[in-house]
Amino acid sequence: MKISSFEHYKQVYQQSVSQPEQFWEGVAETFQWRKKWDMVLEWNFKEPDIKWFQGGKLNITENCLDRHLETDGDRPAIIWEPNDPTEDHRVLTYKQLHDKVCQFANALKNNGVQKGDRICIYMPMIPELAIAVLACARIGAVHSVIFGGFSAQSIADRIQDAECKVVITADGGFRGPKDLPLKSVIDDALVQCPSVKRVIVLTRSRTPVSMIKGRDVWWEDEIKKVETQGNPDCPAEEMDAEDMLFILYTSGSTGKPKGVVHTCGGYMVYAGFTFDTAFQYNKGEVYFCTADIGWITGHSYIVYGPLSQGATAVMFEGVPTWPDAGRFWDIVDKYKVNILYTAPTAIRSLMSFGTDLVKSHDLSSLTKLGSVGEPINEEAWHWFDENVGKGNCPIVDTWWQTENGGFMISPIAGVTPLKPGYASLPLPGVQPVLVDENGKEIEGNDVSGNLCIKFPWPGMLRTTYGDHERCRQTYFSTYADMYFTGDGCMRDADGYYRITGRVDDVLNVSGHRIGTAEVENAINMHSSVVESAVVGYPHDIKGQGVYAFVISPDKHENEDLTRKDILMTVSRIIGPIAKPDKIQFVSGLPKTRSGKIMRRILRKIAEGDVSNLGDTSTLLDPGVVDEIKAGAL
Ligand code: WT7
Repeated sequence: MKISSFEHYKQVYQQSVSQPEQFWEGVAETFQWRKKWDMVLEWNFKEPDIKWFQGGKLNITENCLDRHLETDGDRPAIIWEPNDPTEDHRVLTYKQLHDKVCQFANALKNNGVQKGDRICIYMPMIPELAIAVLACARIGAVHSVIFGGFSAQSIADRIQDAECKVVITADGGFRGPKDLPLKSVIDDALVQCPSVKRVIVLTRSRTPVSMIKGRDVWWEDEIKKVETQGNPDCPAEEMDAEDMLFILYTSGSTGKPKGVVHTCGGYMVYAGFTFDTAFQYNKGEVYFCTADIGWITGHSYIVYGPLSQGATAVMFEGVPTWPDAGRFWDIVDKYKVNILYTAPTAIRSLMSFGTDLVKSHDLSSLTKLGSVGEPINEEAWHWFDENVGKGNCPIVDTWWQTENGGFMISPIAGVTPLKPGYASLPLPGVQPVLVDENGKEIEGNDVSGNLCIKFPWPGMLRTTYGDHERCRQTYFSTYADMYFTGDGCMRDADGYYRITGRVDDVLNVSGHRIGTAEVENAINMHSSVVESAVVGYPHDIKGQGVYAFVISPDKHENEDLTRKDILMTVSRIIGPIAKPDKIQFVSGLPKTRSGKIMRRILRKIAEGDVSNLGDTSTLLDPGVVDEIKAGAL
């Protein structure tokens, strides 16, 4: 939605909350439906039961591909930059992407995939990942993409939870200097996954892999079969607005990740609308989102949002610091990127290399910048603004979550007056509220509280896969009739929102959500560990680091060996992304008489702030605190 001024935003916003159904109906009409909906919205936050655009029929890939073919068929949809800058880049026009999606969708059908089947995708950041995602959507199969940094055990848990029938992967992948043995990790996972009948393996690194007869097939061979069948088209499956589109697993405060479920109609409308609105995207602009498709940011803002709007998206296989820390700037210069959407952790990491690499590249194509994943600290905001945006590019600091499907609180580029560190104001149609610990709404400005949303939006999660009660418990039971985000927030005198971080036991490490309970479970699997407690602490680059307090009476006399064993265990159980940055061995943990770990005390110690630990008299053994303080890392 194009917004011409701040006044215009305020008008649209007012109208969107006074008549939300009318507002969203108008937005939905900008998409292509096979059949129009009978009812815009039916909802209650008690069960919860949320239905948008009921009776509507559509296929999201017709909106992302087919509808652009006539006018924009030759426009680049995806520009792919490989990990190794000396390898050729690839450009897929809308026409080419459409054809490849249809081909692979037919290959999936040849392999027995039907509407409603769950498909696990574990792939590197190459165009075939987007093709696999869209091919699933084309035929109504439900994709569950798993980020390449998760271990075999994590993959197995997710495949079992969703009872996936097929896995799509690659032999291997490249990330910076590293080779990722993707197929080998999948093979380890599948030992525990009887539901998987077929594994489709794309050739990327041509690393040796074992291909199991009757189960494993090569992507390229399956495409050849489709070509010999001579039927390149694959008509899109007609989906109900509320049919499941995908599952994406995310961590929470319990040990087990949840499968967040998004549905076809509402998610499409929300991803497309928010992309267009927050970035004020104009056709022809080159847009570069640095996220991985393994996370929601990649789903909504590399694949579905931009493609639904006919945008040109750059997709990058590698990392910002390889072969050197000028890689983003190379890419901006090479493809004349107009919009760069990245994360505070990437900005802070690049900041640490100084400004020479930024200055030696031509970044004059940039007109808009974006940030996502965690509260952006002011230092990083100003560095991004001055050195990358040259003081000329609005920074849209987009606050949202996996469960939200798309941006919730965000500036509108060129429209909303900015404040560093503030996600600013809700997008049209979004109704945030702050509540106190009793669930009472805190009205007025210059206040702080827990952030909730009091009215549905089309992109919200509908359930957690296979466990609706868990969805209700986690998001809809803390406060009556509201969706609880898990974030703390302040609203300043101007009504601007500033997210202050999670208020639950969830860490945000480099913009990725990691549950402390999950990491503790993994540490506790190590044979010499009796108990552990994990908290976050401020980390210069990652935002939050993982600090583990571990009881291990039988540890090796060289503590570092046990430390490394614990890290290896966490890598095996969750994945390298959850490895603790610090492990402190302790003889006990501060517990209340009822046995509850007092994390508040551990958090203070991990933060290096031991001056005021508060009341420790209720502890079972107050002496343990002095020992932990003395041994702090
Ligand atoms: C959590 C959601 C959806 C984006 C990727 C992360 C934090 C995200 C911001 C921001 C302050 C932010 C919140 C949120 N967060 N963006 N712009 N400002 N905090 O998705 O893994 O679902 O994590 O990330 O704490 O609850 P996620």
